[in-house]
Amino acid sequence: MAGLDSTPKPDPTPKVLYTKLFIDNEFVDAEGGKTFPTINPSTGTKIIDISEASPADVDKAVAAAKRAFARGSPWRLTSGAQRAAMMHKLADLIVQHQDEIASLESLDNGKPFANAYGEVLNAAELIRYYAGWADKVHGLTVPSDDGSFCLTRKEPIGVVGQITPWNYPMVMVALKLAPALAAGCTCVFKPAEQTSLTALRVASFVKEAGFPPGVINFVPGFGQTGAALTAHKDVAKISFTGSTEVGHLILKAAGESNLKRVTLELGGKSPLVIFNDADLDLAAQHAHEGLFHNAGQTCCAPTRVFVQSKVYDEFVKKAVALALEKKVGDPFVPGVNQGPQIDTETFDKILGLIESGKKEGAKLETGGKRLGKAGYFVEPTVFSNVTDNMQIAKEEIFGPVQSIFKFETLEEVIERSNDTHYGLAAGVFTKNIDLALEYAKAVEAGSVWINQWSSINFQTPFGGFKESGIGREMGEESMNHYFETKSISIRLPTRS
Ligand code: NAI
Ligand code: MG
Repeated sequence: MAGLDSTPKPDPTPKVLYTKLFIDNEFVDAEGGKTFPTINPSTGTKIIDISEASPADVDKAVAAAKRAFARGSPWRLTSGAQRAAMMHKLADLIVQHQDEIASLESLDNGKPFANAYGEVLNAAELIRYYAGWADKVHGLTVPSDDGSFCLTRKEPIGVVGQITPWNYPMVMVALKLAPALAAGCTCVFKPAEQTSLTALRVASFVKEAGFPPGVINFVPGFGQTGAALTAHKDVAKISFTGSTEVGHLILKAAGESNLKRVTLELGGKSPLVIFNDADLDLAAQHAHEGLFHNAGQTCCAPTRVFVQSKVYDEFVKKAVALALEKKVGDPFVPGVNQGPQIDTETFDKILGLIESGKKEGAKLETGGKRLGKAGYFVEPTVFSNVTDNMQIAKEEIFGPVQSIFKFETLEEVIERSNDTHYGLAAGVFTKNIDLALEYAKAVEAGSVWINQWSSINFQTPFGGFKESGIGREMGEESMNHYFETKSISIRLPTRS
C-alpha cells in the first residue's frame, strides 16, 4: 500500500486547501457566504475560516443525497464489488496524503503528530475493512408456516446523516462513512465545529475515488447544523457520536420528525478494576495509557480506577510516577505525548472539576493546574482517595484527570461499577480467570477488557449500555444498522 512504510513527515504549517461545504461532488460556499473560525488549541489563535452550513444548506445536501439514492441512479445500480472498489480508492487517496492529513489534524485538534498519523492510517484501514463487507451481506430464505416461499432482502436504508465529535476526527470519518457506503446508503456528514479540516480534505478525494455526485456530502457547522440534519424528514437515519446530552436531543428530534433510525455512541464513566493478584505494573500502564491518551478526551477512558485495598498504595505510587513522565506540549515536537485540550469550554470544565475534587476531599497526588499561558494545556492530574459521591466520580471529565478508588470485594466492586447511568466500557486485571469472567458477566458495559484496556478492533462490536448509547459500531453488527430487512413471500401452488 502506498506510503505505509514511508517515514512520517510532520508539517507544522500545512496549507489548508479546503474550507467549504461539499455538495454534489463540488465545494460550494454556504448560504450568504457565512463562515466560522477554526482555532489552533495549542495557541488559542485562528487557523482559518470555514463555511458554515445553514439549515437551507443542509436541505441542499440532503436533496443531493436523496437524488443520489433514487431508484435507478448510478449509485443504486452499483454492485457491492463496485462500491468496495471506490472505498479502496478513497482509502488509497487518504494514505497517499497521510502526512498532510495528520499535520492538519495536529494543527486543528492539537493531538501529537504520531497519534494523528496513526489515526489517519487507522481510518484508511477501517474503510478497507468495510469495503470487504460491501458484497457479503445478504438475506435468507425462510421456512414459513403458510407454505410461502419466503426470502429476505437487506436493502440500504437511504440518506444517512452523520454527526461527529472532535476527539478522533479521522477515525470518525471512516467509522461513519464506511459501513453506510458499503451498504449502499448515501451520506450527509457534519464534522465537529472544532475540527472540520481533515473531513474536508477527505471530501476532496470523493470525486476522484469515483463516487457519483451526491453520494457523500459534507456540511460543516455547529449544533444548529446538526439539528437541521436530525430534524430533516428525508434523512432516514442519524449516526451520532458525542455527548449524552446531545444524544437525548437527537432521539427526541428523530421522534418528532419521521422516526428516523438512530445510533448513538455517547459518553462514559468506565470502571477499571484491579485485584490484589494483578500484574500491577501492567495494570498501572494500561490504566495510565487508557486515561491519558488523547489528553483524556476519549469516550471509553477508564475514569474510575478501582484498586483492591492491599495493593492500593503501591498502585497509586506507580500511577503518579507514570503521570510525571508525561511530556505535555506542542503536538509537532517529537516526544510530546500530550497536547492541549480542544477548546476553552472543555478546558474550563476540566479545571472546574479538578477544583471540585479538591474541595470534596479527594487527594491531589500530582498536577491539577493549567500549563503555560497560551493554548489549553492541563497538567496530567492524579487523584487518590476518590469516593463514589464526589462530582469527579460521577461526571465525565474528558481531560487528563485520573481518579483512583479503593475497594475490598468482588460483589462490592460490581455494584459500584454499575452505579452509573453510563455503560460504555469496563476492565479487570487479575490472574484469576474465574474472577475476571465473573466481573465481565456482571458489569453493565458494551466492551469488557481483561488484563488490558482499550482493545478496540474493527471486527468487534463497540457501543454502550444504558445512556452510553444505542446500537453498535464496528464489525458486522454495524452493517446491520444501515439496512432495512424486507420479507418477500411467494405463494407456491403446492406446499411440498
Ligand atoms: P457535543 O455532543 O455537543 O458535540 C458533538 C457533535 O454534535 C458536534 O458535531 C456538534 O456540533 C453536534 N451537535 C451539538 N448540538 C447538536 C444538536 N442539538 N443536534 C445535532 N447535533 C448537535 O459535544 P461537545 O460539546 O463537543 O463536548 C461536550 C462533552 O461531551 C465533552 O466534554 C465530553 O464529556 C462529551 N463528549 C463525548 C464524546 C464521545 O466520544 N463520546 C465526544 C465528544 C464529547
Ligand atoms: Mg456542545
